[in-house]
Amino acid sequence: MLKKVTVNTLQKMKDNGEKFSMLTAYDYPTAKYLDEAGIDVLLVGDSLAMVILGYDNTGKIGIEEMSVFTKAVVRGANRAFIVADMPFGSYHSGIDNAMANICHLAKCGANAVKIEGGNDYIYSIVERSVGLGVPVMGHLGFTPQFLNTIGGYNIQGKTVEATLEILKQAKHLEEAGAFAVVLEMVPEESAAYITQNLKIPTVSCGAGRFCDAQVIVSDDMLGKFSEFKPKFVRKYADLKSVILNSAKQYDFDVKNGNFPSEDEIYKLNDSERMQLLSYQN
Ligand code: KIV
Repeated sequence: MLKKVTVNTLQKMKDNGEKFSMLTAYDYPTAKYLDEAGIDVLLVGDSLAMVILGYDNTGKIGIEEMSVFTKAVVRGANRAFIVADMPFGSYHSGIDNAMANICHLAKCGANAVKIEGGNDYIYSIVERSVGLGVPVMGHLGFTPQFLNTIGGYNIQGKTVEATLEILKQAKHLEEAGAFAVVLEMVPEESAAYITQNLKIPTVSCGAGRFCDAQVIVSDDMLGKFSEFKPKFVRKYADLKSVILNSAKQYDFDVKNGNFPSEDEIYKLNDSERMQLLSYQN
């Protein structure tokens, strides 16, 4: 069995100038295949609210739903490090409540949690969680859970001042004990500057080529979620077409008597068949 990825593996990779890969996973078979493919980190992202559950934004998923998907991913992966997103509302009403939900996801098997935002309240949650044994990945730049305060799907860190502000937040997260930080929808030069000035790894989600790692939503890159495609996603497959074409072919085969075939059925033995025939006569 391959050696399990840990926070130390990821830090060593940054220190050695090696990049690591991260993809979202929400179910057992996908986690199994991504793990087998060598993906280093699997994120049970709250993006599952949209791409799996059909909600219109990520804020609508709750801790219980997140638990079910986290457990499925944990059952599928052996080597990859598993990070579960803290859903909107699950860390908002006090550090004790946040810790209860962090422990809940850790008990589901997550190796770490991810929390969006950079302010004193978030830093104190990170510090408490890490101090109690649950690693935390930060998430800065465009933070979908802040969609209504940001006011749209806007690129963050577009000026030097804004870049320095994100770096300041990232440094606070690092000091609080975060083991990595996602930078979402940030210009490449800004993300590179932030990366160079942090000890912990940065993970680009639409933040260019110079972060220490990359993450995208697996349903986007596999072409399963088709409602929109962010500029920074590369589509490696077209699962929508595979599913559509397979379902159309199945529908045709059922309606034309082509499915099931002789090879896809169970048969009575000869004596039972003869007996059954005699009943019918
Ligand atoms: O929820 C998610 O999938 C994410 C990543 C895209 C970073 O937070």
